[in-house]
Amino acid sequence: MHLVDHPLVLDALATLREASTPSELFRRVAVRISLLLATEATRDIPVVTGTLRTPLGPAGFRRLGGEVVVVPVLRAGLGMLDAVLELIPGARVGHIGLQRDELTAVASQYYAKLPSNLRQSYVLMIDPMLATGGSAVAALDLLRDAGAHDIRMICIVAAPEGIALVEQHHPDVHIYTPAVDEGLNDHKFIVPGLGDFGDRLYGT
Ligand code: PRP
Ligand code: URA
Repeated sequence: MHLVDHPLVLDALATLREASTPSELFRRVAVRISLLLATEATRDIPVVTGTLRTPLGPAGFRRLGGEVVVVPVLRAGLGMLDAVLELIPGARVGHIGLQRDELTAVASQYYAKLPSNLRQSYVLMIDPMLATGGSAVAALDLLRDAGAHDIRMICIVAAPEGIALVEQHHPDVHIYTPAVDEGLNDHKFIVPGLGDFGDRLYGT
């Protein structure tokens, strides 16, 4: 578990938490915080080195060496996708659709489409909320079954219950988040959290 406490991240998180933040601003700030979190989550991805020519002569360079696959968990994870693609335009994209039942909070899968060759890739799973952890574990199970080896999960708010469940089922997955909140309420929402991320993102 990597707690990302950069001041710009915390500033964006405050805007997302604020109940009065309208959807338009919420969407923009979701992109901003995702850029910062994805930068942190890819800090140790390997680079290749070489030499190029600037107008003044040769210069050594380092460029991204590993192949990155980004996997948003639908629907809320889509709010983070553009940010990751802005940072890594060459990344391939997989999609996993999961929906929590409103009464039981148990997640069920309604869609999955993943790129091939996950084993050789650095997989960034993006889902803003890690609550019970049921959705994350289901998505991670799918990624593992599809051969993913190096998986990093980026979320914007996590609950201790969700972190514990992911650590129990997928101890080698790195979780990047700026916030570990108090816990879950009776409806399995994160407290204090920021509410329903998907609804706030899309105005539903
Ligand atoms: C939210 C969120 C996570 C999940 C977290 O999605 O984006 O996927 O809940 O909860 P959990 O850890 O208890 O599984 P939701 O199912 O509400 O769907 P949505 O993205 O379509 O809004
Ligand atoms: N999903 C959300 O969007 N928010 C929560 O607090 C829990 C699950």
